[in-house]
Amino acid sequence: MQGFGEILDLLATGEYVSGEDLATRLGITRAAVWKQLKTLRELGYEIVASSGKGYLLQARPDRLYPWEVTKNLHTKVMGRHIEYYDRISSTNQRAKELLAESPVEGTLILAEEQTAGRGRLGRNWFSPPGSALYSTLILKPQLPPYDLPKLTLVAAVALSKTIARELHERPLIKWPNDLYLQGKKISGILTELSGELGRVEFLLLGVGVNVNQHPEDFPEEIREKAGSLRSILGKEEKISRSGLLRSYLQILEDEYFKALRKGFAETLAYCRQYSATLGRQVEVSDGERVLRGKAVMIEEDGSLTLEVESGARTRVFSGDVSLVGPDRPGKT
Ligand code: BTN
Repeated sequence: MQGFGEILDLLATGEYVSGEDLATRLGITRAAVWKQLKTLRELGYEIVASSGKGYLLQARPDRLYPWEVTKNLHTKVMGRHIEYYDRISSTNQRAKELLAESPVEGTLILAEEQTAGRGRLGRNWFSPPGSALYSTLILKPQLPPYDLPKLTLVAAVALSKTIARELHERPLIKWPNDLYLQGKKISGILTELSGELGRVEFLLLGVGVNVNQHPEDFPEEIREKAGSLRSILGKEEKISRSGLLRSYLQILEDEYFKALRKGFAETLAYCRQYSATLGRQVEVSDGERVLRGKAVMIEEDGSLTLEVESGARTRVFSGDVSLVGPDRPGKT
């Protein structure tokens, strides 16, 4: 999709700008300006025209158009190339298809809606249009295989920090990859790897965030458990999805390269401090068996240590964790 960042900047100064001025400043013909204005209106931008004065941008649509996401984005890698879809089966699926074309690191797949959004352990991810974030980043981490699962924690930390920065409320991390706010799941992360065993080439970091849905928008079977940032925080106004995404890309870039350079100590410290899991009675299912116990530690290798009823300790490396017993309050 063509970029409209430049013309939008000129239209958004708060002053009318003439067609002639637009043409000169963009170095294009008046006819080309007119065509761009027409397309922008079709994309949902409200542009008023006044004879003698010119054009003025009055409102932007609530869309994740690439030029909206990259406006004032200062990352070097994350999101420097974006593929945007109105509707797609799954951004992770699309990212997988792209791997055959050797994509640049940091390529971001974005969609307004997913028709077959994927969750962990073969589950679906509820993906209605226009009210959430569905994104997949393609990364090429130069790390030994045993460090790769910790990148899910890096993404969870980045997202928790993003929400704390943008909305002043810090979600807790439910090991290994869910974010909870006031006891409701607001986000999930699906990390997938490509390459040979022992030599991973790409890591696909799929993130879904419930941003503006109303409680009744969620299917009944997940209504109790899931929530959106807007409804949990009781915001009248919609939360800007592009603002949230921009901030996430920025923070993720810092966290990711810090972890590659210096290791995961800070990531793990954050996960322990803002954990929805530690100190709680949990049930962990790996698809085959269910372990019950108290979550006592997130280890240096990213695994979770459980203390089972007999007092024995056991480590789990992946799986689905259900919290049993009372909530831990959110921290800011
Ligand atoms: C989970 O909690 O089970 C993980 C959910 C991950 C959902 C995101 S939405 C964007 C990306 N594309 C997908 O199909 N899934 C992930």
